[in-house]
Amino acid sequence: MEAARNVELKAHDADPGKTLERALAAGAEDRGLLRQRDTYFAVPRGRLKLREEEPGGATLIAYERPDAAAEKVSQYRLVPVADAGALRAALAEANGVLAVVDKRRRLLLWDNVRIHLDGVSGLGTFIELEAVAEPGSDLEREHAQVARLRELLEIRDDDLREGSYADAVISARAQPDPELLALAREAAGRAYAPYSNFPVGAALRTADGRRYAGANVENAAYPQGQCAEASAIGALVAGGGGQIAEIVVAAPSPELVTPCGGCRQRLREFAPPDAPIHLADLERVRRTTTLAELLPLSFGPEHLAA
Ligand code: THU
Repeated sequence: MEAARNVELKAHDADPGKTLERALAAGAEDRGLLRQRDTYFAVPRGRLKLREEEPGGATLIAYERPDAAAEKVSQYRLVPVADAGALRAALAEANGVLAVVDKRRRLLLWDNVRIHLDGVSGLGTFIELEAVAEPGSDLEREHAQVARLRELLEIRDDDLREGSYADAVISARAQPDPELLALAREAAGRAYAPYSNFPVGAALRTADGRRYAGANVENAAYPQGQCAEASAIGALVAGGGGQIAEIVVAAPSPELVTPCGGCRQRLREFAPPDAPIHLADLERVRRTTTLAELLPLSFGPEHLAA
């Protein structure tokens, strides 16, 4: 079966109420509000997401689209799903989940163009246009429709967005909390590392928003030295404990500095497997990883509880 195609565009929308008025004035038909949860799976080619929609049902959506342009042609396949929970679990186990995107969507139809007024959890409000193509279309009509609606809805060039909501969720997650980054750098500046001359700072943020920092503390009796992560965990416990939501490790090193094996296990006690761990030098985050990546097949408190 041939994949379906559309011409589509996404833009940030600062005033969805106004856009709705303009869309209705342009003759679009309001099809009401939908709640959608899209789970994106890690796949070798294109994108694969399971959409669970209320009202409505579940659909598996496989698609490919170049991300480089504001207005682009997308090829996609929609597969109705009877048992969404089972499919989600199976695909998550086999491939891994990249991101989950929750949104409220007002759907409008303007002839064969779908207008989406989206409120996306954690990202903001957006408008999408999707001109669904007839099989065999040269796409001229669909491009013209998108261009016309862009005028009618007054979508500005500055507001156009490339990439999917999943990409935006992933990159928002990869951005470190700026205060946490500053705390880790300051701690690195105060490290006591006269033997290795390798200062390290670590900072932790808890799920309820507290931040704790620590530095490495070395000793003339070398084995008594303590890593920055261990110091920060001590501060966390003294400050009331809790779950770690985010970690920054900062060191003025040209090499990527990752937590040592012992500290991976220490973090395992307080951080969930998907908590971001930002590895930074004094200028920038060089890489963001997770405990799941640093410490696979790990042993933790729940093994003792079993
Ligand atoms: N160190 C840390 O504090 N954290 C890390 O993630 C890697 C290594 C410290 C331990 C020691 O004081 C110095 O760096 C050199 O190994």
